[in-house]
Amino acid sequence: MNTTNPFGKKGWTPDRIKDLSGKTFVITGTTSGTGFEAARILLSKNARVVMLNRNPQKASDTTAQLKKILGNRIDVINITMDLGVQASVKKAATEVLEKVGRIDALMCNGAIAQVPKQQITKDGWESQMGVNFFGHFTLQALLFPLIEKSNGRIVTVGSLGYDMGIKAIKFDDLNWDKDYTPNDAYSQSKLAQIMTLYELQDRLAAAGKMGVKAYACHPGSSRTSLISTSGSFMMKMIFGLMKLSPLTQPAENGAYPELMCATEPELDQSAFYGPTGRSNWVGPVGPHELKPHAKDKVAANKLWELAEKETGVSWNV
Ligand SMILES: NC(=O)c1ccc[n+]([C@@H]2O[C@H](COP(=O)([O-])OP(=O)(O)OC[C@H]3O[C@@H](n4cnc5c(N)ncnc54)[C@H](OP(=O)(O)O)[C@@H]3O)[C@@H](O)[C@H]2O)c1
Repeated sequence: MNTTNPFGKKGWTPDRIKDLSGKTFVITGTTSGTGFEAARILLSKNARVVMLNRNPQKASDTTAQLKKILGNRIDVINITMDLGVQASVKKAATEVLEKVGRIDALMCNGAIAQVPKQQITKDGWESQMGVNFFGHFTLQALLFPLIEKSNGRIVTVGSLGYDMGIKAIKFDDLNWDKDYTPNDAYSQSKLAQIMTLYELQDRLAAAGKMGVKAYACHPGSSRTSLISTSGSFMMKMIFGLMKLSPLTQPAENGAYPELMCATEPELDQSAFYGPTGRSNWVGPVGPHELKPHAKDKVAANKLWELAEKETGVSWNV
């Protein structure tokens, strides 16, 4: 039991979310898992939700499913975006800016994980870096002006994987041309995501832009489609067995940390949010330990500069 959780014994739950009429949330990857649950809960509180997904058929099936659960009056917009293709991310960002007048939170949830063999995206990056990191880096930068205008938030869904793998950014071989392993590459991409999120906080503070908030969180170990979408046969077997144990939790609980970061007033930005129970895999949601390498200032700054150069997108911070 965690006695220091500011949200009490049960931790943060969506009961704390008030009516969200008039508010707009943009979420990546809502066709399954935590993204689907986050969209469902936000819509149930009367928010407008913009769903950014790569597969238009799956996206439209998702809308149909949400309407079946919540009724036809939900305010949901589908925009096609493949996080692994920069041109698609840029096009989707333009479309978002055309379709909505405000963004209360951008929730960077979509991802691939544990890709068995090295794959290189169209833009030339290892696939997990390309989708999870570079895709979201560009999306965040392009939507930033509207988020700023809305005094909104940027939420990065990371992973405890930030503290697995080599626990550093492999600047001399970012694509893992040497020594590729699925876990090292996935872990690096999630470390890169949260590292630049904390770097963004520093850059916002230095620019005096205190209206925008940025948060990092993770869903613990949640029963979603993540491993079955991109993992190896062995990983699917391992996670299949884990799903039967109390070491995993329902996808809905995995959505709570990102929902909290998107909606909870007065949340400390310096923290890392997720389940606070066993190994931070399951349990009540709240802030918990973050290892210092996630806030390695030198690496974060270098990664930020590299990402701006690689994507050709500059932040207006
Ligand atoms: N589940 C866990 O235990 C766990 C643990 C640590 C961290 N996480 C993190 O939690 C977040 C949500 O994952 P999840 O577990 O809910 O997995 P999931 O069920 O597989 O959902 C991932 C979502 O991302 C989308 N996506 C994948 N590649 C994409 C691309 N190139 N462009 C746009 N969307 C794409 C998927 O769409 P498709 O339907 O098209 O594949 C899906 O909607 C991820 O950031 C993941 O790293 C999960």
